[in-house]
Amino acid sequence: MSLQLTSDGRLRHLLTLDGLPRETMTRLLDRAGQIRDAALGRTHKRDSLFGTTLCTLFFEPSTRTRSSFQIAAQRLGADVLNFDASTSSARKGETALDTLKNLEAMGVRGFIVRHPDNGAADALAAHCGEDTTIINAGDGRSAHPTQGLLDALTIRQAKGPDFSRLKILITGDVRHSRVARSDLHALRALGAGEIRVCGPQSLLPDDDMLKGCIVGDDFDEMLKGADVLMMLRLQRERMEEGLISSLDDYHRDYGLTAARLKHAAPDAVVMHPGPINRGVEMTDEVADGPQSLVLRQVSNGVAIRMAVLEALLG
Ligand code: NCD
Repeated sequence: MSLQLTSDGRLRHLLTLDGLPRETMTRLLDRAGQIRDAALGRTHKRDSLFGTTLCTLFFEPSTRTRSSFQIAAQRLGADVLNFDASTSSARKGETALDTLKNLEAMGVRGFIVRHPDNGAADALAAHCGEDTTIINAGDGRSAHPTQGLLDALTIRQAKGPDFSRLKILITGDVRHSRVARSDLHALRALGAGEIRVCGPQSLLPDDDMLKGCIVGDDFDEMLKGADVLMMLRLQRERMEEGLISSLDDYHRDYGLTAARLKHAAPDAVVMHPGPINRGVEMTDEVADGPQSLVLRQVSNGVAIRMAVLEALLG
């Protein structure tokens, strides 16, 4: 039995997109599409979470994920507490579970959790109170479900709902990327036609996460005719020494430049979850160019997080 679905199939926590039914995913994407206007602040504040207190429980740095969850929660009328591990008793060795239990005792009902350990959000979901909801905002290299959903929404807006005709290329540090894992689960569930995965051998995963994908290390070859280019950040904080020879070499072999982009489909779109290492994963010209959807991803992040919060706690 999955930890995140109730016996009648309702979403209880959001921990992973692995095994999340396609209908649940589509419902979240549809809802996010509908509330996008509200998400961008163009309509009045909604109040479906009025009286609910949420906490962003982050044990790793974040810019986009944390702020967009906070904005999403506030736009639904919730109160939000931002817990910062670097200035809390986590520094004195208090565990994540004890921290959660203490905040639960103060009436916090939903926790948006980021943690460097794989499975950290699942462990909290297994031990939290009956009325508490956990949302995984990135655990180790395992999962980042709301990023997977916002990426799917971004592709759907740009390319339409039929993913079966799309060639989607994921490039970079796939091995350490929770974003890639969640993207793959979303893309498969939504029926992506062709998923290509590219990176140096040392940065490709050693488990079976790429089952069914076309895998290669020749970026120029893999790029040809691709409709969607999903670039990943080099996760240097999760990387052992020596996995890449140098950033310059990496950029030479895997950096997306305007010249390379010409070999993708003429209307190809470029995505990156952020933070971008400019001049490494892609040039400024590409990141800020007309084919880039990077900031669209960020806006969609608010809409998706509103839809997720509403579905879980509304
Ligand atoms: C990602 C993360 O933290 O997993 N960032 C994000 O949430 N947008 C990707 C990354 O850090 O590379």
